[in-house]
Amino acid sequence: MEHWLKKTLLILALYFFDCRGEDAVNQQSGAVTAFEGGLVTLSCNFTTSSASPDLFWYIQFTRDSPQYVLRRDRYSEGANSDEFKKRFDSRLNSTFVPLTIQRLQLSDSAVYYCALRPTVTTGYTAPLKKMIV
Ligand SMILES: *[C@@H]1O[C@H](CO)[C@@H](O)[C@H](O)[C@H]1NC(C)=O
Ligand SMILES: *[C@@H]1O[C@H](CO)[C@@H](O)[C@H](O)[C@H]1NC(C)=O
Repeated sequence: MEHWLKKTLLILALYFFDCRGEDAVNQQSGAVTAFEGGLVTLSCNFTTSSASPDLFWYIQFTRDSPQYVLRRDRYSEGANSDEFKKRFDSRLNSTFVPLTIQRLQLSDSAVYYCALRPTVTTGYTAPLKKMIV
């Protein structure tokens, strides 16, 4: 049995991502630390004038462009990209679209973005931090 102290620390860096016009998302920024094998919930709340907004989560690994993880809306179950089907989930309510990642792996270290309908544009270089305790 592994002691939790021996588990690897994982840092997920989060950055604020803004949308245009009336629509806005607000994400906690900075790093979130979690344990490998554990669970983390990344917060994101939004305001929109749309009655049926599409909310997205994207993941960005260092030097890559953001990749689509999942989409949620108010009237359907939404969808996950094949690559992020098993451990990634989000339950949307009227103002929040939190991303939950289960059974964390070191390779989940990345920058996560939530976004409303508009396409994500990027200029970031993503800091990827891995720490071993
Ligand atoms: C997100 O929630 C915070 C705190 O409740 C609030 O101040 C902010 O305006 C909200 N942002 C959006 C885009 O809804
Ligand atoms: C939406 O979910 C968040 C947590 O994810 C919770 O704090 C909030 O109260 C919920 N809002 C509604 C309207 O259910």
